[in-house]
Amino acid sequence: MRRYLILEAGRTVSEIVIDRGVADDPLVVLEPRADRANAAVLCQAATRGVAERLGAALARTGIVATVIELPDGEAVKALDALEPIYRRLNDLALTRGDTIVGVGGGALTDVAGFVGATYLRGVEAVYVATTLLGAVDAAIGGKTAVNVGGKNLVGVFAHPTRVVIDLDLLDQLPPDLIRQGSAEALKAGLIGDPELVSLYARHGIDAPLDEVVDRAVGVKAAVVSDDFREHGNRAFLNYGHTIGHAIEAESGISHGDAVAIGMVAAGTVSQLTVGFNRAGEQRDLIERLGLPTVAPQVDAARVLDLVNLDKKRDVAGTRMVVLEEIGRPAVLNVDDATVRAALASVDVA
Ligand SMILES: NC(=O)c1ccc[n+]([C@@H]2O[C@H](COP(=O)([O-])OP(=O)(O)OC[C@H]3O[C@@H](n4cnc5c(N)ncnc54)[C@H](O)[C@@H]3O)[C@@H](O)[C@H]2O)c1
Ligand SMILES: [Zn+2]
Repeated sequence: MRRYLILEAGRTVSEIVIDRGVADDPLVVLEPRADRANAAVLCQAATRGVAERLGAALARTGIVATVIELPDGEAVKALDALEPIYRRLNDLALTRGDTIVGVGGGALTDVAGFVGATYLRGVEAVYVATTLLGAVDAAIGGKTAVNVGGKNLVGVFAHPTRVVIDLDLLDQLPPDLIRQGSAEALKAGLIGDPELVSLYARHGIDAPLDEVVDRAVGVKAAVVSDDFREHGNRAFLNYGHTIGHAIEAESGISHGDAVAIGMVAAGTVSQLTVGFNRAGEQRDLIERLGLPTVAPQVDAARVLDLVNLDKKRDVAGTRMVVLEEIGRPAVLNVDDATVRAALASVDVA
């Protein structure tokens, strides 16, 4: 078992547990607590089986566990999808001592966290992260959100008390979900762990998940602990995301694919601004992981507008994350001409 702690002002606010066969282990998922009578276990169709097994195991420890299946995919993050959840929690007469358990990928845990943070002004949330992207990124760091018009525009910062990552579950993921998660895991390596980048360089998409997850979670936990509310270094996690988000919003491609393309573009920005000399190598590696390195057909002017909006909304101000070297990120002001060149390098022109 590997454990990582998220610290805020020196205090542990969240614990991440990585192991095998733990997704339905009640003692790993929930720390025993006398005032917890109920657990609402939120899941989606794909994670119903795990949620049911966990629910049954929790019941054997005396907790009243109710499995609630929510709409699949990103639909779960619609604001409209929340009211039925809150009403179910009313029916269960959940109290502040109870727990919301989110079993699923990033979309599901984003919602479980938001519900936990808002129901009764805050009940405990715990996640079982079932996708690679969820495990290395979405479940960690305390950002919760739903979509209103744009993605993730409404949310709060609230940490789950625990995140459980079961490598046995991740081993069974379909190839596309491995690829999507690899984009974020590679990003973690690029900003904070050159060994993780080497691991991908040696093994490609078959890099051993135990080590990938361990290292990527280590980077995210360290960056977040350093900077919970995103005033400084946490911005490093946005590597590839400023341009990636714009392409994602314009084209509707998946987040992992968009981040892959965004990292290629950020590699170009890094090369042009701080002389990063491994942009080509980075692109080859992304390609080897089966991720895209050029954008689908999109309107370049609209993408540039979105990039500028994203930069303004970002805590880094009108700035972008670049790499001086692998493992050494920096945040810089980047002018439009450089952004245009970066966009051209991913075929947005
Ligand atoms: N909070 C954050 O910091 C943060 C960071 C990155 C991404 N996100 C969010 O995460 C979401 C993307 O997460 P994702 O990539 O996990 O996608 P996802 O949660 O949409 O999951 C993709 C699909 O896989 C299914 N699934 C989940 N676990 C599975 C399993 N073990 N086997 C088979 N299918 C499974 C899901 O039900 C869903 O239909 C987005 O909504 C994004 O905004 C949040
Ligand atoms: Zn991301």
